[in-house]
Amino acid sequence: MSRVLVTRRVFPEVIEALSQRFEVVTNPDDTPWSPDQIAGHLAGCSAAMSTVMCKFDASVFERSPQLKVVSNIAVGYNNIDVAAATKGGVRVTNTPGVLDDTTADLTWALLMAAARRIPEGDAYVRRGDWKVAFAMQSFLGMDVHHATLGIIGMGRIGQAIARRASGFDMAVLYNNRTRLSEADEKRANATVVERDELLARSDFVVVMAPYSPATHHLIGAAEIAKMKRTAILVNTARGGVVDDAALVAALKEGRIAGAGIDVFEGEPKLHADYLALPNVSLTPHIGSATRATRMRMCETAVANLTAVLEGRVPPNLVNKDVI
Ligand code: GLV
Ligand code: GLV
Repeated sequence: MSRVLVTRRVFPEVIEALSQRFEVVTNPDDTPWSPDQIAGHLAGCSAAMSTVMCKFDASVFERSPQLKVVSNIAVGYNNIDVAAATKGGVRVTNTPGVLDDTTADLTWALLMAAARRIPEGDAYVRRGDWKVAFAMQSFLGMDVHHATLGIIGMGRIGQAIARRASGFDMAVLYNNRTRLSEADEKRANATVVERDELLARSDFVVVMAPYSPATHHLIGAAEIAKMKRTAILVNTARGGVVDDAALVAALKEGRIAGAGIDVFEGEPKLHADYLALPNVSLTPHIGSATRATRMRMCETAVANLTAVLEGRVPPNLVNKDVI
């Protein structure tokens, strides 16, 4: 019977499903393991199911010659050294498609929370500071409707974010490595522009690019400087795509109006100055966090892993050149 390592806690139903076919080794206390610990726990395992917080570096693959597949329960896979996996003949799989709408919803929640200063208002009410009702000039925010939304990274999630903008009568600009098909552009009601033009024209800038060395600090001080002073930046993609230090500095100086951030460089640690900034809405990497979607991600990951262990091509193979 093949042995499978599940590197973080998942739903009990998922362990049950895996246990019908495989011997399952779990991480009972849910602490993300170091690469060294992962390699240790992988002894005798031919498969791993992992999350974005589990780092599979080259040393893990070098120490695990028996490993056949790393099935990431995520659409992103920047936690895995894919080249090293391919070199070791290990299949890497992810869970695209099942989380697009849920992540698009959270992006909108953060965009609107930042625009209308919801966390700030909530804290104010809870503190008991609300003494004068309907003060004409207090808690003034940004209009979302009829504003311009700019999306950098127009894959499936970016397009789902764009489609939601039509209810707010927004203009949508996008920038992507490749231009969308005419049909997809039409469905998203979005216009392709150069990145600098997008930054200059948008009232809301959403980043939705995967993390890689090429997208490291894709939004840094220079890019933020091109944004409107009234603009809001939203990052629900991956920590490190935005330069957190540059964003913190810009928010402090009022260079832009606000931000909504779900993902951070080095999370769960984050730039300490975020905590004191009233004009940023913060969530703890919960883009895909609904029960239904997290279950679908797990089911997809199980299907990918099972396919490999049964000698089939997995539905969501990342490193196709491994075959
Ligand atoms: C989560 O961050 C994912 O990549 O799915
Ligand atoms: C506000 O509450 C209004 O009635 O305009």
